Amino acid sequence: MTEPLILGIESSCDETGVGIVRGSDLLANQVASSVEEHVRFGGVVPEIASRAHLEAIRPTLDRALAEAGVDLDQIDAIAVTAGPGLMGALVVGLSAAKALAWALDKPLYGVNHLIGHVGVDLLEHGPLPQPSMALLVSGGHTNILRVGDIATDVEEVGTTIDDAAGEAYDKVARLLGLAYPGGPVIDRLAAEGDPTAIRFPRGLTARHDLEKHRFDFSFSGLKTAVARWVEVRRREGGEVPLADVAAGFQEAVADVVTAKAVDACQFYGVDALLLGGGVAANSRLRLLLAQRCEAAGITLRRPRPALCTDNGAMIAAVGAELVLAGVRPSSLDISANSGLPVEQVSL
Ligand code: KG4
Ligand code: ZN
Repeated sequence: MTEPLILGIESSCDETGVGIVRGSDLLANQVASSVEEHVRFGGVVPEIASRAHLEAIRPTLDRALAEAGVDLDQIDAIAVTAGPGLMGALVVGLSAAKALAWALDKPLYGVNHLIGHVGVDLLEHGPLPQPSMALLVSGGHTNILRVGDIATDVEEVGTTIDDAAGEAYDKVARLLGLAYPGGPVIDRLAAEGDPTAIRFPRGLTARHDLEKHRFDFSFSGLKTAVARWVEVRRREGGEVPLADVAAGFQEAVADVVTAKAVDACQFYGVDALLLGGGVAANSRLRLLLAQRCEAAGITLRRPRPALCTDNGAMIAAVGAELVLAGVRPSSLDISANSGLPVEQVSL
């Protein structure tokens, strides 16, 4: 089959996403977010997220079909996030996808959300180089991956041993009294600060750590260091320079993740790097990674920020790759897997 028309549904966290692609062409990308409903709780409340998905799924689907100018019966296959994510949120999208697949008599593909983040750039910059390395930085995961055919061949090279990068952003924002989600807020605030004013620790970069954890990450020590710095400053009765703290924290995250990703490319002899996940929208990370990749002769594939955060188009994109690779569709009785391992592309 050439250029399959794929509908992708995403509901793993607080964004209801429906995307439509034809092969690697993006036809529609509609996202409804419930983030405003979670702000006052300082984090995603699963029950509220599930309910919001239920309300948003039909209208978001209708908007995507209208944007793409296609009818449901033209769709060749339905791709849906099967995990990882919040169980109650995942099942809303998965149930909708199963109902559509059954009613339309079309194949269903249960897709790994994380692989959606890794592969989404093919919608913007065309086919992915094989092999590629991938730097995945999201709210719940931080990984370095070696990617052959994205439909069938993903190998974990490194992971976080504690918090994820996005989680660190959200926790640091919280301790600074900033709004949820912390990533975009710190990104904006840091632009007004001096990234060299305070030097925060770079996790797992000391020589003895590199022996065992060369491509792994740790952000909980960084979070604690920020908390302690702020606490000492407050105890001394001084004003906390929020912009400098944000910039120093952001520099520590960007420095570590970019250095390790480039090191992994060089270690494995791979000259293409895919960037993905919500934190990939971060302005400092994008710039520093581009500079370091250029200096190292690595081709960086960097999707635009709107495609970095959760959406249905990335799921549709992986769905198209699965169809083209001849991967067998999922059974209609698959279950959502909130802890789906990153190496498992589809269910
Ligand atoms: O990938 P994503 O949308 O959801 C998950 O799969 O987890 O990532 C959400 C995370 C949140 O932690 C959010 O704070 C972070 O991405 N994020 C950012 C930025 N935009 C979103 N982090 C840093 N800078 C940003 N501009
Ligand atoms: Zn995500």
